Amino acid sequence: MTYTRNTEEEKKQRLFIEALKKTTAERTEASGRRPTYHIMTMGCQMNARDSEKLSGILTEIGAEETESENADILLFNTCTVRENANEKLYGHLGQVKRYKKANPDMLIGICGCMMQEKDEVLRIRQRYPFVDLVFGTHNFWKFPELLYASLTGRERVFDTAETPDQYADHMPVRRKYSFKSGVNIMYGCDNFCTYCIVPYVRGRERSREPEEIIDEIRALVNDGVKEVMLLGQNVNSYGKTLEIPVSFADLLRRVSRIPGLERVRFMTPHPKDLSDDLIRVIREEPKVCHHLHLPLQSGSTRLLKRMNRHYTKESYLDLVRRIREAVPDIGLTTDIIVGFPGETDEDFEDTLDVIRACRFQSAFTFIYSRRTGTPAASYEDQVPEDVTAERMKRLLALVSELAGSVADRGEGETAKVLVEGLNDHMPGWLTGRLGNNLMVHFEGDASLVGEIVDVELTESKGFYYMGRLKG
Ligand code: 5AD
Ligand code: SF4
Repeated sequence: MTYTRNTEEEKKQRLFIEALKKTTAERTEASGRRPTYHIMTMGCQMNARDSEKLSGILTEIGAEETESENADILLFNTCTVRENANEKLYGHLGQVKRYKKANPDMLIGICGCMMQEKDEVLRIRQRYPFVDLVFGTHNFWKFPELLYASLTGRERVFDTAETPDQYADHMPVRRKYSFKSGVNIMYGCDNFCTYCIVPYVRGRERSREPEEIIDEIRALVNDGVKEVMLLGQNVNSYGKTLEIPVSFADLLRRVSRIPGLERVRFMTPHPKDLSDDLIRVIREEPKVCHHLHLPLQSGSTRLLKRMNRHYTKESYLDLVRRIREAVPDIGLTTDIIVGFPGETDEDFEDTLDVIRACRFQSAFTFIYSRRTGTPAASYEDQVPEDVTAERMKRLLALVSELAGSVADRGEGETAKVLVEGLNDHMPGWLTGRLGNNLMVHFEGDASLVGEIVDVELTESKGFYYMGRLKG
């Protein structure tokens, strides 16, 4: 499938940005204050990155960000990977209806993965008449045009393209953090794990050209960024469909040699096709962080087959062994699904086995959620809720028991820490992140935020450390 950057569209969208600047200026003039905006981001890093793009455009046109959902422009960037993400949106909509009553000029918009589902869009159209603007992930780049139509027209604007065939994402961006940024290297997913809705809502896999990615990162570095996170649903299949194919390991090597950049992370590699070359790059390139998020989903070979994951319990364990051998201080994290259809006690024991063997730093644990349209939703042997709940309890207990012992190992060492912000609970304290992704809290001055500093890890608290800044 072709997926081209459409520079003509970019020009057109910029014209809409100019037009929106005028609209906002008029509104500011009339009301005596700049219109406010708020973006509620649900879901993954990809959504967080998209929200930074929305925020960039809204700032560019002259709107002002506010913490409150009671804003002049309120956007929900939705997720649909599990049922509770959908419920969260409807919960919020129930609440914000009253804001719109008090402020009829308020614009309420919804975008993101959930808006690529026809049934959900229909539900919004019919039952939530106060929602003014709906757009999906495929035509995300049309935001300036759609916002303009919504602000100046009388009709509700619904625009959700079926398939993405182009993109125009060279638009203003407002980053949440000045010193770190996500960078999309690819979009979509072709893996079709049987529980997962992502391939249906995000479409087929499309990679960006390496030169474009490198240019974007260079510009970020010039703008003060020290750490980038390369983003894709399965980064290991990056570059396969490009005219001149490039492997993810090659891209990572090139990115990590960009002058001025200090740290590179990436998310998410699929265990089925993590190459030895990639392990080598992690070991050899000093800027590549020693952290891997390696979603296991289940430790049972039988269930992995039903999930269409293309690896077995043994091959996963072997992969972890090879990674640890090459990069002994790597921090591993994972995703686990509990209660996938047909999961027996024995299957679940396999999952616990793998967790014990892999010494994960942390695990994101999810109760299986039946997503309409995915193959697993029609499997007949759905696991009863009480059984899943009981297993979840056991899983959480094991994960937290093991996490404590993982972090113990660094005590007394000194490590590089990227200072991410002020500590929320202790005045005069800072919070930073180690290369292996664990957090450290230590005393220090606010001027260090965004800097990479040496910190002695004085005490392990299981999921994080307490530390002391080295002079
Ligand atoms: N039910 C529960 N968890 C899911 N995930 C994806 N789809 C589902 C589902 N239907 C989890 C997987 C994935 C993470 C992003 O979300 O663990 O790795
Ligand atoms: Fe979903 Fe599997 Fe693709 Fe991840 S790799 S987005 S779990 S289909």
